[in-house]
Amino acid sequence: MKLKVLLGAFLIQLLSRATISEVINKKFPDNFLFGAATAAYQIEGAWNEDGKGENIWDYFTHTRPYMIITLENGDVACDSYHKYLEDVAMLKNLGVNHYRFSLSWSRILPTGHVNKVNQAGVNYYKNLIAALKENGIEPYVTLYHWDLPQPLQEIGGWPNPLLVDYFADYAKLAFSLFGDEVKNWMTFNEPKQACQSGYGYGINPPGSRLEGFLKSRLPEFTPEEIDYIKGTHDFLALNTYTTNLAKNQDFDIGYPSWDSDSGVSKYVNESWDGAASFWLKVVPWGMRKLLNWVDQTYDHPEIFITENGFSDRGELEDQKRIDYYAEYLSNILQAIHEDGVNVTGYTAWSLMDNFEWNMAYTERFGFYYVDFDSPNRTRTIKKSAEYYKNVIATKRRGN
Ligand code: NOJ
Repeated sequence: MKLKVLLGAFLIQLLSRATISEVINKKFPDNFLFGAATAAYQIEGAWNEDGKGENIWDYFTHTRPYMIITLENGDVACDSYHKYLEDVAMLKNLGVNHYRFSLSWSRILPTGHVNKVNQAGVNYYKNLIAALKENGIEPYVTLYHWDLPQPLQEIGGWPNPLLVDYFADYAKLAFSLFGDEVKNWMTFNEPKQACQSGYGYGINPPGSRLEGFLKSRLPEFTPEEIDYIKGTHDFLALNTYTTNLAKNQDFDIGYPSWDSDSGVSKYVNESWDGAASFWLKVVPWGMRKLLNWVDQTYDHPEIFITENGFSDRGELEDQKRIDYYAEYLSNILQAIHEDGVNVTGYTAWSLMDNFEWNMAYTERFGFYYVDFDSPNRTRTIKKSAEYYKNVIATKRRGN
């Protein structure tokens, strides 16, 4: 009996080793794209320089600093407005195929409207895009990463249907200004998050209160609008970091759930490792499961991972981040090779430590450490950058 058990355990060990080494040796397809991401408010700084207008994050952090854990803001952030050439050199060093960044609407259009273009803002993005292209890096541009021009908030923000036209005008202008060089565009970054945190929990701007609203105050799509946009996407852009478990609400999980409007409570397994961000548990198998779910639910679309990453408090020898990437990349490899999911690209969050919204500079996601106390926001390479460099060069998860 003992011998049987031992033999069984030995076989299981052999098998799991075989699977692990199979995955380690599996390669991403030759045309698979690796990149890194950031967003305007989180890195640019220069919040009121060269004609930039105020946006809702400027306004929110200046008028309600207590909503940010350290009372800090993105006024300077990583100072990328002045240091973008250094950022491009860092990207080049990683060997990325693409850089995903966002345009600050109010840097280009200080009032939010296309009748007043801020040429200095346009030049900033033209220069950034040119530097990327010179270094063989494809720009992947997000039009809206949460920083609405404040004047548009003053007419009601997103619940005002006029914003649809204003956004379309801004988007068309961006296409005409940068479209010769930029071939990959993303519209809204995590719209659900902007709605929920801005108009539901109220922890992000504009900070509207939950106060007894049982349904969304945002306008709903009409059936005609749903028909109109159906099938208009080229790929499905996916940001993903973690996994939650779900229980029916009437099942007592022993502590309050975060999300109570759906009849379902979310919870996590307490044994899962966590990152510095309270919501970020390390659940690599969740990546494969999610990719399969998207594949099946949306009829086998092209999936481009636009964000995935791990936060800590700022270690340079960031082994936990390396382990996170290695395990999540394994699951992507399995989804591609074993499940036939059409994943074509991966974008790590983030190129460098930056302003992590309500958590300011206390949660760091970068491949490069940024010293937010130094006046010139010195960047220092971390161990995970060397790891990612190797992933990109070999198209294997490594480690
Ligand atoms: C998703 C958001 O798009 C990004 O702005 C944020 O910093 C990361 N998640 C990490 O929380």
